[in-house]
Amino acid sequence: MAYLDHAATTPMLPEAVEAMTAQLTAVGNASSLHGAGRRARRTVEEARETFAEALGARPSEVVYTSGGTEADNLAVKGLYWARRDADPRRTRVLASPVEHHAVLDVVHWLGEHEGATVEYLPVDTVGRVHPEALREAIARDPGNVALATVMWANNEIGTVQPVRELADVAAEFGVPLHADAVQAVGQLPVDFASSGLAAMTVSGHKIGGPYGIGALLLGREYTPVPVLHGGGQERQVRSGTLDTPAIAAFAEAARITTERQEWFAREIGGLRDDLIAAVRAAVSDAILGGAPPQGPPQAPASAPASGSASLLGRLPANAHFTFPGCEGDSLLLLLDAQGIECSTGSACTAGIAQPSHVLLATGTDPDLARGTLRFSLGHTSTTADVEAVAQAIGPAVERARTAGLS
Ligand SMILES: Cc1ncc(COP(=O)(O)O)c(C=O)c1O
Repeated sequence: MAYLDHAATTPMLPEAVEAMTAQLTAVGNASSLHGAGRRARRTVEEARETFAEALGARPSEVVYTSGGTEADNLAVKGLYWARRDADPRRTRVLASPVEHHAVLDVVHWLGEHEGATVEYLPVDTVGRVHPEALREAIARDPGNVALATVMWANNEIGTVQPVRELADVAAEFGVPLHADAVQAVGQLPVDFASSGLAAMTVSGHKIGGPYGIGALLLGREYTPVPVLHGGGQERQVRSGTLDTPAIAAFAEAARITTERQEWFAREIGGLRDDLIAAVRAAVSDAILGGAPPQGPPQAPASAPASGSASLLGRLPANAHFTFPGCEGDSLLLLLDAQGIECSTGSACTAGIAQPSHVLLATGTDPDLARGTLRFSLGHTSTTADVEAVAQAIGPAVERARTAGLS
């Protein structure tokens, strides 16, 4: 089997499994005052410190959630409501059109149900938001902007955004900027403090931790209106009994994955480059989506701020292709039959394949946008995975082309 869908979910790291299993038999609600509760609380707080340190945040800036989707909802809905409550004029939400559905559907919902005016920022042909575009959008009426949200790196085509520069522009106008960093952590240097962000989303199962756990890193000066009400845990912004085993494992995964980030970018990035070369050799008209690979970032003379332009490119583990004349789903199933597991990159709606909103936003022709595959590598990827793709992709594309677009 060649598992090449790590952007969907990546195997848990053995150390995270160990940290989780060590807690599964322990009892104690981290909010209880007795010994067992205090032990659970200690585990949670130690994990919070580990997690915060791994991502350049303060422990008090970590709000645990049930995953990336919930953290995105809390950031976008919560900050919208809080900013609008403080000033009713603030109803404009600025978002990139290449966001994951966990952000895109939230801003759409705010527009439908909460009186928000949603404005999509222009992107270039690789899906990048330019800081001047954000400046132009905010400057048109800075007083009515509730928040802006632009993902750190795109889950489909791997494009990395100039987070630091975007945050600088937002800060000039006092507008909070949220970034979904679900795909960036472990692949790029991610440092919350130097990013300038108001809020940042992380997910456990994308970094070698468990499913069902995530976090919103949230600057101390922000108090979003809660999405979940209840016992008042997590700074009163996210109620619910804390999942001590998952939190312990999540922190361990964050610690290891950020420690190994340079290795990952170099080694897994190298494998990804081999995969791109193999696909191009087998299918001469395959089109690589997103920004061109740059290899690992060169050591700069002075350390650049996290997310600065000098580190831009694409995610080191992402290879996204369009195969003209093919249906992505057919290709995916043909490769699956050969033991190669990948993705078309876009979610389907009610079982019907739709051209990806990300590709459409980059100006890709809708017919072309139906023939995509995303190969995403991870910490367990090997040269054998790349060889399997090199062998199978040519014949699969030929067969899919014979079948034509349905
Ligand atoms: C960019 C991005 N944001 C958010 C999510 C959702 O995260 P979770 O699965 O933890 O809810 C994903 C998962 O596919 C993602 O890729």
